[in-house]
Amino acid sequence: MPLYPEYIIQEVIDKNDIVDVVSKQVRLKKSGANYMGLCPFHNEKTPSFSVSPTKGIFHCFGCGVGGSVINFVMKTENLTFTEAVKELAARANIVLPQINGYDSNKEKEIRDQKEILFNINEKAASFYFSYLSKDEGKVAVEYFKERKLDGKCAKLFYLGYSPNEKRKLFDYLVGEGFSESDILKAGLITKHENGDYYDKFRGRVMFPIFNVNDKIIGFGARRIDENVMPKYLNSPETLVYNKSKNLYALNLAKKSKKDFVILVEGYMDVISLMRYGFYNVVASLGTALTTEQAKLLKRYFNEVVISYDSDEAGQTAARRAIGILRDAEIKASVIKVDNAKDTDEFIKKYGSDRFNLILTKRKGDIAYLMDVLGEKYNLKNNDEKVLYVNELIPYLQKVTNSVELDVLVSEISAKTSISSQAIYLQIGKTKAKLTDDFSPKATVPHFGASTKDKLSRTQEMLLSLLINEPKLLVKAESILEDDLFDDELLKKLFTTLKEKKDHDIDASYLMTAFEEEDVAKITKIISIDTRCEDTLKAVKDYVLSIKEEKRRIEIDKLVKQGDINALNEIFKNNQKGEIRL
Ligand code: UTP
Ligand code: MN
Repeated sequence: MPLYPEYIIQEVIDKNDIVDVVSKQVRLKKSGANYMGLCPFHNEKTPSFSVSPTKGIFHCFGCGVGGSVINFVMKTENLTFTEAVKELAARANIVLPQINGYDSNKEKEIRDQKEILFNINEKAASFYFSYLSKDEGKVAVEYFKERKLDGKCAKLFYLGYSPNEKRKLFDYLVGEGFSESDILKAGLITKHENGDYYDKFRGRVMFPIFNVNDKIIGFGARRIDENVMPKYLNSPETLVYNKSKNLYALNLAKKSKKDFVILVEGYMDVISLMRYGFYNVVASLGTALTTEQAKLLKRYFNEVVISYDSDEAGQTAARRAIGILRDAEIKASVIKVDNAKDTDEFIKKYGSDRFNLILTKRKGDIAYLMDVLGEKYNLKNNDEKVLYVNELIPYLQKVTNSVELDVLVSEISAKTSISSQAIYLQIGKTKAKLTDDFSPKATVPHFGASTKDKLSRTQEMLLSLLINEPKLLVKAESILEDDLFDDELLKKLFTTLKEKKDHDIDASYLMTAFEEEDVAKITKIISIDTRCEDTLKAVKDYVLSIKEEKRRIEIDKLVKQGDINALNEIFKNNQKGEIRL
């Protein structure tokens, strides 16, 4: 629940023009009463992101996000509701009232602390970078050269060198005015038992890690001497660094505006690909891909192309990543960097044309698995056929699109001469065993789904009309019956409208009256273009159409049940669906 009263939210929304705020991130073009642009929350080539200055909302018809200027700031800057309100209030010089002292103080404290850590990291990165032009840092420059990285790379990735001394960085940061405890919290120094501070990273090449908003959150530090252990030393988890929620180079990759992203294992893979002109690349941060990272990628790309190391570990990691990406419902495919140990080596050995070629010939995730398992098992042998199918089953269970599933099952069936039915049975059976929740959703098509869709669309259009012209609520009162809506949210919206009647339902009201997840759905409804000449007639038409659709659904149901009596009853009472105003 929002903590601030409605009037404050109202003021914050009023004083931060949504078009101005959005324009800082999205190039908008006027289109009628609204503005249109490319959605910043998903990849697209034709604009479906619309901003309505009069209603104070944005909405993307492509990916469905929407809300007020507050939601926009929350989403683009990764803030909580309260944080976004504070941010916007500050921009508009609005003094916020003190609310629940504890919470707001605590939140501010955390935010300030984060800001300090970002600053420390930024200073540290520039300190490491500066060593590339000092005598001491020559070893690092030599190392980069050997790995074919030039000055441009160093700048783009803000690479650096950590001097091999006890506490050069520590002294520097203290000199810059940071406290010992803050430097410790940033994970850049370690405290010895005798109370002495040591720089954590010494004599290593440095890779700053940025978050999506271009802030430095931590470091990866690679050895130069191959005898030193470990190969990479990484920042510990801090208030700003969480290795399972961030991805290396996502800040750069998202700017590529490509439809797909290449997922590699290491920092060096990313840097090499970018050097060869492939900017849509990210790497996880020394852990297996996580669900949070998959969701993060889904915000910016439509497909993830896995390009992991060619060794056993890399291929096992690829299989795990497939499962994670399937669960996140983002399209995945796999490429194999044959005859090279990793992507870095591949592109250096074979160049960008060859890499492009394997990219364009990439296999879908499950097709890749079928290939790999096809090599592992002898499909002429009955026992091995069973093993082959059984290894595929957990992945097939994650396929949500029934058409895709059918294609895959047919193919596996053809390969193994095991019947499709048996495979389907196995998909269902093991799933039931694992989760006790076997739903045949994926395989049985929804009957009558299109009628239901049409019904809810009409209901949404009616609501949109009523929101945009509240007078209609009074004018058409007699036909606006409560049972027009069956969806809980639509019902609630309808009753809210009736209660407020002559007030506009605007963004600030929605913010306070509805839950976060509902706001997006409601802005979608508000954004429907309902302009027409005779709005009262339109209301009448919509109501009529809703009633007819409902009746059709009811009849369908009775026909399926074979309930002749009930059917006769309906036809007798409802000869004409006519409505009077
Ligand atoms: P790699 O060993 O493949 O590293 O580990 P790389 O980036 O390809 O480096 P080069 O080319 O061998 O120099 C992949 C990733 O795993 C993490 C790092 O994030 C690395 O980029 N890692 C690896 C660690 O965190 N610690 C280690 O000791 C090794
Ligand atoms: Mn590697």
